[in-house]
Amino acid sequence: MRYSMGIAALAAVVVAAPTETVQDSHPIKARAACASAVTLTPGSNPFSSRTLHANSAYASEISTAMASVTDASITAAGAAVAKVGTFLWLDTIARVPLAATMLAETPCTDILGLVVYDLPGRDCNAKASNGELATGQLAKYQSSYIDPIVAAIKAAPNVAVALIIEPDSLPNLVTNANVSACAAAASDYKAGVAYALKQLNLPNVAMYIDAGHGGWLGWDANLQPGADMLSSVWKTAGSPKQVFGISTNVAGWNAWSASPGEFAGTSDAKYNKCQDEKRYVDAISPLIKAGGMPAHAIVDTGRNAVQGLRAEWGDWCNVIGAGFGVRPTATTGDSLVDAFVWVKPGGESDGTSDSGANRYDSFCGKADAFKPAPQAGTWNEAYFEALIKNAVPSF
Ligand code: GLC
Repeated sequence: MRYSMGIAALAAVVVAAPTETVQDSHPIKARAACASAVTLTPGSNPFSSRTLHANSAYASEISTAMASVTDASITAAGAAVAKVGTFLWLDTIARVPLAATMLAETPCTDILGLVVYDLPGRDCNAKASNGELATGQLAKYQSSYIDPIVAAIKAAPNVAVALIIEPDSLPNLVTNANVSACAAAASDYKAGVAYALKQLNLPNVAMYIDAGHGGWLGWDANLQPGADMLSSVWKTAGSPKQVFGISTNVAGWNAWSASPGEFAGTSDAKYNKCQDEKRYVDAISPLIKAGGMPAHAIVDTGRNAVQGLRAEWGDWCNVIGAGFGVRPTATTGDSLVDAFVWVKPGGESDGTSDSGANRYDSFCGKADAFKPAPQAGTWNEAYFEALIKNAVPSF
């Protein structure tokens, strides 16, 4: 319901795009689409000559929210956030038509970031982001969700696209196989991810399979099984060459590089050498590569400006005190990392704090989780303003 209203509102925004171009004082030429088909060459860095697209869906979400804000410093900062490249989450079948709209607005200077996130039995080890498809609905995932995304991208061969494939899904199969919902969903996850990788293997697409974060698969006992899980699903898909590697820290909070690591002082730290995302990527990438799969990475820095906020490393819900982090860039200082990107749209909730609500997860009720918080994916104005206030670099 909320999303279908959102789509109608977005159509209006898109129609108004030429006017926006003038207001932005961006030269119209710089916003033109590519004149010919884009090829993202495997082994190259698709972000090195392109800007992650600041999509109008997130921009319109922000401008709708700013309409009821009177503090000019916040509305100015909000407008600046809207210009930062951020991935768009295709988290329901109803949202898929947005892909075509976003592809149409992406200029040749940019690469459009989309998150593929609608597996059957989604978010099997938590409750906040359970999806619309039940375990067993693999055929519907394929025909009603993946196939239309493929069609939209095929119809836009002149646009560069980065895809993050199914956050948390394969990591959950590595560490949460004992959770009954994950055990039940495992075959759909593997087949669904393999299908997505195979069908989306298009020349203008760079795919990154989600690999969780250093506090998840970075444990000594998880690194090799994690790498094996990713490379084996990639092989099941027919070793698609437009898979460039992995995404890490999606919607996460870990620092890119911190010494000592945020949780280096805990009693079990000796079992995890990946105390930041740099050490995690540097550790898992060679193991994935040994399995034959390309293993460059993109890392979500959207909300990781402030460290020392979480009581426990696994705390994932609306962490209090977080700030917007490093802006998207291909200058990462690590040859394995293609880009720092913004994946989680800051201001969208991780989950509701209402313990009586559908999809309430107790992590969203913990002392380090911001309250009140609405359902996952919906706007939380107070949290957005805190992300601005705590941003490094600042807005
Ligand atoms: C959460 C939500 C999803 C939303 C995404 C980005 O995972 O479950 O609906 O699109 O966050 O905010």
